[in-house]
Amino acid sequence: MAARKLTPTEVLAQPLELPCGLVLPNRLVKCPMQETLAVAPFFDPPIEKFQNLYGQWAEANYGLIITGQVQIDIRFLSIAGDVVCHPDSLEPPHIESWKRWAEIAQSKGTPCIVQLAHPGRMSPAGAGQRPADMPTLCPSSVPVQVGDKWLDKLAVSKMLGTPKAMDLADIDGAVEDWKRGARVAKIAGFKGIQLHGAHGFLLSQFLSPHTNRRTDDYGGNPEGRLKLLKRLVTEIREECPPPFCLSVKLNSGDYMAEGGLSQDEALEQVRWLVTCGMVDFVEISGGNAEQKTSGLHNSFGKQTISQAPQIRESTRIREAYYTEFAERVTQLPNKKCPIQLSGGFRSRNGMADAITSSACDLIGLGRTAVLEPDIPKRLLLNHALSDEEALARPHIVKGQWLSNMIPIKVVGSSLPIQLFYFNMRRLGNGLQPDPDKSILGMIWSSVVETFHSGLSVAVHRVLETCGLSKAQKVD
Ligand SMILES: Cc1cc2nc3c(=O)[nH]c(=O)nc-3n(C[C@H](O)[C@H](O)[C@H](O)COP(=O)(O)O)c2cc1C
Repeated sequence: MAARKLTPTEVLAQPLELPCGLVLPNRLVKCPMQETLAVAPFFDPPIEKFQNLYGQWAEANYGLIITGQVQIDIRFLSIAGDVVCHPDSLEPPHIESWKRWAEIAQSKGTPCIVQLAHPGRMSPAGAGQRPADMPTLCPSSVPVQVGDKWLDKLAVSKMLGTPKAMDLADIDGAVEDWKRGARVAKIAGFKGIQLHGAHGFLLSQFLSPHTNRRTDDYGGNPEGRLKLLKRLVTEIREECPPPFCLSVKLNSGDYMAEGGLSQDEALEQVRWLVTCGMVDFVEISGGNAEQKTSGLHNSFGKQTISQAPQIRESTRIREAYYTEFAERVTQLPNKKCPIQLSGGFRSRNGMADAITSSACDLIGLGRTAVLEPDIPKRLLLNHALSDEEALARPHIVKGQWLSNMIPIKVVGSSLPIQLFYFNMRRLGNGLQPDPDKSILGMIWSSVVETFHSGLSVAVHRVLETCGLSKAQKVD
């Protein structure tokens, strides 16, 4: 008798054992998304806020939670508020915050891994703790270009400047920082790490011929451009063997108009990762902060769907952006690890179809996990809701006209993503998401917040000056 075909809910609810032995209870992965909640000077995991934010994701029944990117070098953040793994992170009191974070995120049985990153030349001045005259780092000294007008060039040169080409000591230093990140994650109790090799950050700067014009062993040809990633995978594996999970996030290309990373070369890079026997899963995503058609942090495609697509025998449901590339990866011979596909998923049918048609094994949920943090339990894995009802809300950001009106592209194009940072901060403050907030509304809220905090600082100073500060009043 032929086996019964699984329903879309059953397809998503299937557990998956990774090569390291870690068992994921289902196929839905909360994507890495930087929370922008950590504060200077140490940028440790902010426990109260993470209790609220990761507590919600922990309750939601994901198969895996990947943290937002954690920077490995306190001098180079990708945005203010990134968590940082610094040289003191292994010592008390810092390691206690890391342990608590691992506990909160995994409190209901979902495993959690930490994404480790270095932004390279995409580190804006003022976001990290580096002297004003210290340049960003890059495999070669290739400045970022977002927009063609003189105002664009001025803004980018003020924010990012011209990067320094990394020398071998810089590369060795970064490798040590990444290894320390893995060590901290392991000691804290996380189940593994993911190396961020996508979206135009340092590792993808090494992988792309546009930013890697080196002539030494770390560049020169496709093999050389892959050398840093190979070194990291090998050395981290040596130090953190299974059952510790080691994952890599990669792009399906870097979307540069000329001289960038082609899909064919990206496929060769993935080929090594999926056949080397040291990596537990590869996440495939897309986008590049510098790409000509979009702006900083834009890793999203454009299409949107208004209702859940129907499952039919003959047609493929392609709501995800990078399905074609994922299919090329899954067809690679001798593939030893599963593939996570991220970008654009909204319907239960579309997700299940991507798995049953072998485009991928795991489904990454980014913006949806912010706007509807409980979506696996409430909707996608809920048998009581029909496949037609199982559709996440659209990711439309209201007031995008404002971002188009701003004459500086690097500023204008990074406005829509603020909705998701804004909502992660709301979740961190114990509030529900507000998906309908417009760009103008967010700007107004931050003006009011700044005014309030400025006012309270001013009132506090006046009270202090009058000898009436809180501590003295209690006395
Ligand atoms: C607010 C926000 C922050 C993000 N931060 C990260 C990050 O830290 N690391 C990363 O690899 N991707 C990051 N991404 C990209 C997501 O992981 C994911 O690849 C992307 O959002 C596409 O998935 P989606 O269509 O489900 O949103 C971020 C996306 C958003 C919206």
